[in-house]
Parts: sequence; structure tokens; C-alpha cells
Amino acid sequence: MSPSYYTEHPTGDLMAHATNDIEAVRRACSMGVLMTSDAVIMISFSLVFMIGISPSLTLWALIPLPFISLVVMGFGRLIHRRFERVQAVFSVLTERVREVLSGIRLLRGFAREEGIERAFAGTNQDNVNANISLIQVWGVFEPSVGLFAGTGAAIILWMGGRAVLGGTLDLGGLVAITSYLGMLVWPMMAIGWIVNTLQQGSASMKRLEKIFAERPTIASPPDPRPIPASRRIEIRNLVFSYPGLDRPALRDVNLTLEEGTTLGIVGLTGSGKSTLVRLLPRLYDPPPGTVFLGGTDVRALDLTKLRAQIGMVPQDVFLFSASLRDNIAFGRPDASEDEVWEVARLAGLAPEVAAFP
Ligand SMILES: Nc1ncnc2c1ncn2[C@@H]1O[C@H](COP(=O)(O)OP(=O)(O)OP(=O)(O)O)[C@@H](O)[C@H]1O
Ligand SMILES: [Mg+2]
Repeated sequence: MSPSYYTEHPTGDLMAHATNDIEAVRRACSMGVLMTSDAVIMISFSLVFMIGISPSLTLWALIPLPFISLVVMGFGRLIHRRFERVQAVFSVLTERVREVLSGIRLLRGFAREEGIERAFAGTNQDNVNANISLIQVWGVFEPSVGLFAGTGAAIILWMGGRAVLGGTLDLGGLVAITSYLGMLVWPMMAIGWIVNTLQQGSASMKRLEKIFAERPTIASPPDPRPIPASRRIEIRNLVFSYPGLDRPALRDVNLTLEEGTTLGIVGLTGSGKSTLVRLLPRLYDPPPGTVFLGGTDVRALDLTKLRAQIGMVPQDVFLFSASLRDNIAFGRPDASEDEVWEVARLAGLAPEVAAFP
């Protein structure tokens, strides 16, 4: 995707899509389908046997059951919302702890412990509150299910008991129909749960489809020109504004950099040095006809090949969780062992690396 996409969608959001939404879709496809078939089979078989024993008693006993599904649906949504809140607060808490631990020296140095403790206590209290509000719903939820399941059982005992006394139903039938009713409680709960799972799954799927439909705005041209042999860099009348901003970050830049020469650019913070460098590998797109490599507009070159020509050392150092060798050879995975060592030597790293066990 284009860099501006990541400006509009913070890393945390994308991570949330990658975990929560994918998980919700997965749950709908797996557990949702499994529980649907489970519920359908359990309900139909129990019903057939119950009706076989006593159709009228079955009808009476079934009256409270749909309420179980409704309770699960209603509470399920509430629980889901509060559970998400618990997770969100917990992630703030973890982030805060991570930040404090990694900046502990700085904190101590500035004697800022007290303020941090207060902030931490606040976040901690949020965490407690979120958990309590979740537990409160849980606390009401389970007895509500029990209430409706119990009502069904009470109806059977009352009406079935009278039928047994009146001789229209035998005792075995009453016992059997009571246990079948017990077997229906779980599938009725499952129905409520399934409805919620499928709804959440389809909402997540919509969010994911929006991401899948995104297309990078910076892409290779349909028929790219070959990478020129010359490495001359030329910039002509460049005016560049970041997407969505009116004020240009660069205005009327002209320069020619012959192959083999070195250029240092100095300027105030925010004067556009990094911006200029970002336009060459098209991390942001320069306007057509402004940035040239070996006389060819960079927009006319194949994007991957263009970027393979350019090495970059960013301002903020970033290391991947991989070996030192992989980090050094990141731009050229096919670099030989000697080349990697040569780079380590140039960076003044070699003695340290050699000292590693
Ligand atoms: N991703 C971005 N989106 C929008 N505006 C940006 C973005 N990056 C930089 N800018 C703006 O463009 C201008 C030039 O920024 P740039 O980072 O190129 O300056 P710089 O010369 O590299 O500064 P520094 O010396 O701090 O590295 C600044 O006004 C900055 O606020
Ligand atoms: Mg910069």
C-alpha cells in the first residue's frame, strides 16, 4: 500500500484487523457452522422423541425455550462489547508498562516516578472497572438462562405430574420427556450464540474486504522503461506537497547530481531533506517530469527495479528481529559473507561482531 495509507491507518488499527477481525471470521466459519449443525440435530431428535411421548406436554414445555436464545443473544452482545473494552483497556495498560520499563533510565534521571505512578494508577483503575462491568453482566446472564430452563422444567413437572396422576401418561414417559427438555437447553443457547457469531463474522468480513479492496496508489507503469545505465540524478522544477496537504513541502527544487559524486544537503528541521530523498525511490510520488534517474523519469521505471538501485540509511534506526547478518544484508539478500563483513567493518561494527560468541 502507499505510505499515506499507513498515515491514515495507524499500526494499532491494522493489528486489530489482523487479530480481531480475522479471528471473528474464522470463528464464524468454524464454530458457527459446527454449532449450527449440532444444534439442528440435537433439537430435531429431541423434539421427535418428545412429541412421540406427549405432543401437548411438549408444546407447553417449549414455550419458555426461545427466550433462552433471546437471552443469549442480548447478553452475548453486551458481553462482547464489555469484553472488547476489557481487552482495549488491557492493551493500554500493557503499552504503558512497556513504555515505562523501556524508558526507566530516563524516568529516573528526571525524577518523574510520581507522575508516572499516578497515571499508572488511573489506567489500572480503568482496567478494574472494565472487568467489574463485564463480571456484572455475566452474573445476571447465567441465572437468566437458568430461569427460563427451569420454567420449562416446572411446566413439565406440573402438567406431566397431573397427567401421570390422571393416568394419561406413564412415569417413564415423564422422566424421559424431562431429560429431553434438559438436552434442549444447550442447543437453544447455541442458537443465540450462533446468531451473534455470524453477525460479528460478517461485520468483520466487511471490514477486511475494505482492506483487500485497497490498491496502492504508487505502482509500476504498465510498460516500464529499462533501468538506465547512467546513475545521474536530476531534479527539475520540483514542487511537492504531501497528499491531502495544501502547503508544499518542497518548492522549485532543481539539481543535477552526476554519477560518482557525493552531495550533502543541510537545512533546518522540516525544510524537506527527508522528503526529497523519499521521492527518488517513489516512497511518495513526485509529480511527472520532475525526478529523473539517468535521464528517465522515475515514474516510468519498474518500481521494484528502481528501488533495488537505491540504498537508504534512515534517520530512525530500525533493526528486524533477525540475525545481524540478515539486517546488514537486508537490501541485498544475496550479498556474500565477505561483503557483509566489509560493511560491518565500514560501520565500525566488525570488532564487536568478532567479539560475539
Ligand atoms: N508523511 C508526511 N505527511 C505529511 N507531511 C509531512 C510528512 N513528512 C514530513 N512532512 C512535512 O514536510 C515538511 C518537510 O519534512 P521533512 O521530514 O522532509 O524535513 P527534514 O528536512 O527531513 O527535517 P529533519 O531535519 O527533521 O529530518 C515538514 O513540514 C513536515 O511537517
Ligand atoms: Mg529528515
